[in-house]
Amino acid sequence: MNEGAPKTVVRGLKDVAAAETRISFVNPMGSLYYMGYNIDDLVGRIIYAEIAFLFIHKRLPKQKELNKFSKALVAEMKLPDAVVDSIKATPRDCHPMDVLRTEVSHLGEYDPDGGEFSEAANNRRAIRLMAQVPTIVATLHRSREGKETPSPREDFGFATNFLYMFRGSPPDMDETEVLHRLMILHADHGFNASTFAARVTASTNSDMYSAVTTAIGTLKGPIHGGASEKVMNMLNDIEVEERVDEYISGLLDDHKKIMGFGHRVYRVEDPRTKHLRGIVENLCHRPRTSSLYNRCLLIEQIVHDRKKIYPNLDFYAAVAMDALEIPKEYFTPFFASSRISGWVAHIIEQYEDAVLLRPSSDYVGEYGKKFIPIGER
Ligand SMILES: CC(C)(COP(=O)(O)OP(=O)(O)OC[C@H]1O[C@@H](n2cnc3c(N)ncnc32)[C@H](O)[C@@H]1OP(=O)(O)O)[C@@H](O)C(=O)NCCC(=O)NCCS
Repeated sequence: MNEGAPKTVVRGLKDVAAAETRISFVNPMGSLYYMGYNIDDLVGRIIYAEIAFLFIHKRLPKQKELNKFSKALVAEMKLPDAVVDSIKATPRDCHPMDVLRTEVSHLGEYDPDGGEFSEAANNRRAIRLMAQVPTIVATLHRSREGKETPSPREDFGFATNFLYMFRGSPPDMDETEVLHRLMILHADHGFNASTFAARVTASTNSDMYSAVTTAIGTLKGPIHGGASEKVMNMLNDIEVEERVDEYISGLLDDHKKIMGFGHRVYRVEDPRTKHLRGIVENLCHRPRTSSLYNRCLLIEQIVHDRKKIYPNLDFYAAVAMDALEIPKEYFTPFFASSRISGWVAHIIEQYEDAVLLRPSSDYVGEYGKKFIPIGER
C-alpha cells in the first residue's frame, strides 16, 4: 500500500486534455472552430439549424437536407402535456434555470425511445432535446406572464419559432438575423464545464436526459453561463456612463471579479466577442441599447487597462439579448437553448469513445485514526 504517495494535482484540471474531440476547437490564440470551420467564416452566413445539423451529422447540410432537418426540429417542439402542466405549477420566484433543469429531467420520463440505446435512438433524442429545451424556456416565460404559448408555425424556421413562442410575436428580419448569430456563437465551446459535466454523466452510459440535466445544473453557475445575467445586474447598477469608472475601479480595488471578463483558455480576446460587439453596435438604435453599449465600452477599457483581461461571450451577449426583449433571468436559459446542440453532440461523441471519465485525487487527509464507538465519544 502506498499510503501518502503524492499524486500530481492539476488544480481545476487546467490544460488537462480529458478526451479527444472533433466537435469544436478553442484555440488559446483567439480562434474557434466548429467541426473544422472557423466561426468567422460561419457567423452571418449560415442559420442556427445548420450548426445543429453539422454537430449531429458531422457535415454541413445541402439545402434540401436543411429544410427537412429544420422541419423535423419544429415538429419536435411540442412538449408532453404533463411537462407543460408541471412548468405552469412551478413557484413563481424560483429561477428559470431551476425549472429548465427539472423539466429536462422530467422529459426523460416521456422519452418515446424508452430504454433503447442505439445510435439511431440517440440521434432522435438529440433532435428532440434541441427542439424541446427552447420550448420549456418559452413556455415558462409565457406562463409567468399569464399568457398561452403559441404553437410553432410551419412557415417559420426553428430559431424564429423559438423567439416567436417566447415573446408571442414574430421577430422582424433584423431580430431574426441577431438571433441566429447569437445562437451560433453559443452553440459549442470545447470542454467547458457544463459540456465536460455532461460527458462525465454520459461516460457512465447513463441516458441523454440525465447528461443534459447535469449540464444545465453546471451552466447555471455565475462563473459559467450564469455570468450574463450578472453582467446585466452590473450594467443596471451602474445606471449611467458617468458612474462606470468609480463602480468598476471600486470592484477591482476590492479584488472582486468583473462578470463577463476573463477566460480559462483564451490568452487574447475571445473570438466571439468581436461578433457580439458588432451585433450590439448595430442594435444601438433600439431603446436602452446605445446607453448599455457605451457603458460596456468604458468597462472594457478600464478592465483591460487594469487587469489585461478581455470580455468573454457573456459580456456583450447580455446586451444583445436585452435588445431582443429577453428578460435577464432568461439569459442563461437562452444560452442553454443554443448550447444544447453542442451538449448532445458531445454526449454522442462520449458514447462513441466508450470510456468512463473517472479521475483520481490526491488524498491529503489522515490515516489510522482510532475509532471510538458512538456511546463513548
Ligand atoms: C472565467 C473564469 C472563471 C476563468 O477563471 P480561471 O481560469 O480559473 O482564472 P482565475 O479566476 O484564476 O483568474 C486568473 C487571474 O485573472 C483575474 N481575473 C480573472 N477573471 C477576472 C475577472 N472577471 N475580473 C477580474 N479579475 C479577473 C483573477 O483575479 C486572477 O488574478 P490574480 O492572478 O492576480 O489572482 C474567470 O475569469 C471568471 O470568474 N470570470 C468572471 C465570470 C465569467 O464571466 N464567466 C464566464 C466565462 S465564459
